[in-house]
Amino acid sequence: MKQYKSKLDLSKYLNTLKINDKTIGFVPTMGALHNGHLSLINKCSKENDITVVSIFVNPTQFNNKNDLINYPRTLAKDLDKIKDYCDIVFIPDENEMYNEPDKRLFDFGNIDKVMEGKHRIGHFNGVAQIVSRLFDIVQPTNAYFGLKDFQQVAIIKNLVQQLDLKTNIISCKILREESGLAMSSRNERLAPKLRENAAIINKVLIESKSKKSELTVSELENWVISKLNKNEFIEIEYFSIVDNTTLENITEWKDNITGCIALHTGNVRLIDNVGY
Ligand code: PAF
Repeated sequence: MKQYKSKLDLSKYLNTLKINDKTIGFVPTMGALHNGHLSLINKCSKENDITVVSIFVNPTQFNNKNDLINYPRTLAKDLDKIKDYCDIVFIPDENEMYNEPDKRLFDFGNIDKVMEGKHRIGHFNGVAQIVSRLFDIVQPTNAYFGLKDFQQVAIIKNLVQQLDLKTNIISCKILREESGLAMSSRNERLAPKLRENAAIINKVLIESKSKKSELTVSELENWVISKLNKNEFIEIEYFSIVDNTTLENITEWKDNITGCIALHTGNVRLIDNVGY
């Protein structure tokens, strides 16, 4: 596995591969890699000639300073985990990615105004800044993103359209711990008791699917919220059932919809979702 810290060196090397028509698969990450990331990297390496992984904790997507400070950083372990699947790892520092502040403001219409966008002001603009910079350097044929970050996938698809990029965005299903808890780097920050307790999130989301025939959309949203809020360790931030494309709240049952949840447990914020 080749390691690059310089974007210029990386793009020079990638250009030599492109001359030979190699497909480049890309998995952007912020490190603290878990099996969810590894499954993206594994899929990427099966579907492309060359697999590039980036590890960079992007400051512009954190609206909360403490969240940025507390974000787990485990570079040595990360490199060890990916060495067998990945051809190239890009590990720039902040200066390399933002030698001057990125002042670009993206317009995503409604899709960054709801859910995560409403509760984490500026988050998706920061994601768009870093992903557009990384895509510019790597110029991937295919890029892989996990569907736990359901809204992020919609934003990135929109970004690729806006910038008229050639990269295919491949969204990959959520990987779960044995308990059903969606895999996330943040799970590492949960005390064992809270991690065990957090299994209830997926249980309630799965159970809610069977209530669809007897409840209206807003009744079902309230059912999930009140069921989880009864748990002494959980505080819901939002639960919304939205159209998969527009991310608008639906009022009547229809196809292609997803229930998205964000909540706090201990001092950790988790998200998850379920298709109905
Ligand atoms: O999903 C993530 O880990 C990050 O938002 C991403 C896409 C790597 C951009 O920093």
